[in-house]
Amino acid sequence: MAEAPSSNTNLRLSGKIAIVTGGASGIGEATARVFANEGVRVVVIADIQDELGNQVAASIGSQRCTYIHCDVTDEDQVKNLVQSTVDTYGQVDIMFSNAGIASPTDQTIMELDMSQFDRLFAVNVQGMALCVKHAARAMVEGRIRGSIVCTGSVSCRQGGPRSTDYTMSKHAVLGLMRAASVQLAAHGIRVNCVSPSGLATPLTCKLLGMSEEKTQETYQKYARLEGVVLTPKHVADAVLFLVSDQAEFITGLDLRVDGGFAYGK
Ligand SMILES: NC(=O)c1ccc[n+]([C@@H]2O[C@H](COP(=O)([O-])OP(=O)(O)OC[C@H]3O[C@@H](n4cnc5c(N)ncnc54)[C@H](O)[C@@H]3O)[C@@H](O)[C@H]2O)c1
Repeated sequence: MAEAPSSNTNLRLSGKIAIVTGGASGIGEATARVFANEGVRVVVIADIQDELGNQVAASIGSQRCTYIHCDVTDEDQVKNLVQSTVDTYGQVDIMFSNAGIASPTDQTIMELDMSQFDRLFAVNVQGMALCVKHAARAMVEGRIRGSIVCTGSVSCRQGGPRSTDYTMSKHAVLGLMRAASVQLAAHGIRVNCVSPSGLATPLTCKLLGMSEEKTQETYQKYARLEGVVLTPKHVADAVLFLVSDQAEFITGLDLRVDGGFAYGK
């Protein structure tokens, strides 16, 4: 059973019901923690890493956080994620659609591998769209003026020397957010993106085959802003802003959290 809605109105998400996909790790985990600290009634973590997801939920506290297995590429599982949240807690106020992967290869257009491309698009584009679709349906049905945030990337807006499939998938996320933000505005539902530059998470440490420290150093070279290293908490704080009442009139925004990122600084 969840706790009663928090009575502390200083907390920015007091009493809200939130879903975070990809919440077992990295940016999603950090955001689930920030949501919990800001007074959500419950944050539902959805992921495919069951052991890790359960550990994160337990460390946040079972009164405030639950874990559910959900592969975002599977529409039935996404539908079940949203429906079971509504059945248990009454509504969905916040969907942070964040689950995403990188390609196993860092290819130029000339090396594009279509089976890797399909797998990447299944998670980063189809999965993202399914989460927005079913959250939006539940919000409209429940007359909830909810907030949806998708995790984009600096790759939403610019190409790079490699990672062709990833760049394409993140451009699609921007298109999804823009279409949904226009279509859902009539229901009072806000849809935005948060777009980080590279940062050390389990995803990127594995991809680069480096420690957290080395991965941070690698990405730091691309940020213009000196004296600060991008962490999952910075991204989580930007998501918090977007889903809170402080962003009540903001929809259709791609909020870059990138320290002035640029290729070839
Ligand atoms: N780390 C970066 O440098 C960076 C930069 C820009 C954008 N992003 C984006 O941020 C998001 C989160 O990435 P992260 O860096 O925190 O990585 P991460 O690997 O730490 O976390 C991603 C989570 O998504 C989960 N996931 C993967 N496939 C899934 C599926 N089919 N269904 C449900 N969950 C699934 C993973 O199990 C993992 O727990 C992704 O969308 C990624 O593209 C990351």
